[in-house]
Amino acid sequence: MIRNAVHEDLDAILAIENSCFPRPWSRKSFENELFKVKSDFMVYECDGEVAGYIVFWYILDEAELAVIAVADKFRRKGIASRLITHCVEKHEEIEIIHLEVEKINLSAVAMYEKMGFKPNGQIKDYYGDGRHALRMSCLRTDYRGDEHA
Ligand SMILES: CC(C)(COP(=O)(O)OP(=O)(O)OC[C@H]1O[C@@H](n2cnc3c(N)ncnc32)[C@H](O)[C@@H]1OP(=O)(O)O)[C@@H](O)C(=O)NCCC(=O)NCCS
Repeated sequence: MIRNAVHEDLDAILAIENSCFPRPWSRKSFENELFKVKSDFMVYECDGEVAGYIVFWYILDEAELAVIAVADKFRRKGIASRLITHCVEKHEEIEIIHLEVEKINLSAVAMYEKMGFKPNGQIKDYYGDGRHALRMSCLRTDYRGDEHA
């Protein structure tokens, strides 16, 4: 089930976030997303457990996939694809979605490519020394959604 994140989800979200990223978002950053306009902060819940989450920013016809992560034991079940598709379908006005992903994060890059994202630049040292970001974008017309929906 996909639903809006609530304050009570933050411990579970932070546990996933801290297990995934060397420079994780802080509790305060996630708390801010709970109240921000132009931001979808959603969780994917499985049997009462937070399996994954997404922070998706949108303005006019553009969106930025700010954060997405799925707990280890729930991966490869289509959860991240469903979260992204949920946000894209919710905002019919969006024509293009942007994101940054670490170049060596091959599982995420594979997922984004499968969904129709294409690389369109790099940002040197974006995630720290020697850790470069790939910038990727996807036009709505190229978006392939997910076969799990
Ligand atoms: C990247 C991530 C969000 C994917 O979540 P997920 O729920 O497992 O992804 P999905 O099940 O929706 O995968 C969709 C497709 O992406 C590709 N994919 C996902 N993980 C993959 C992997 N480890 N290796 C190769 N391809 C992969 C596959 O094509 C997959 O489809 P398939 O399972 O039918 O073959 C998850 O691995 C994760 O949380 N990683 C750590 C955090 C992270 O890197 N976030 C992204 C930061 S930009």
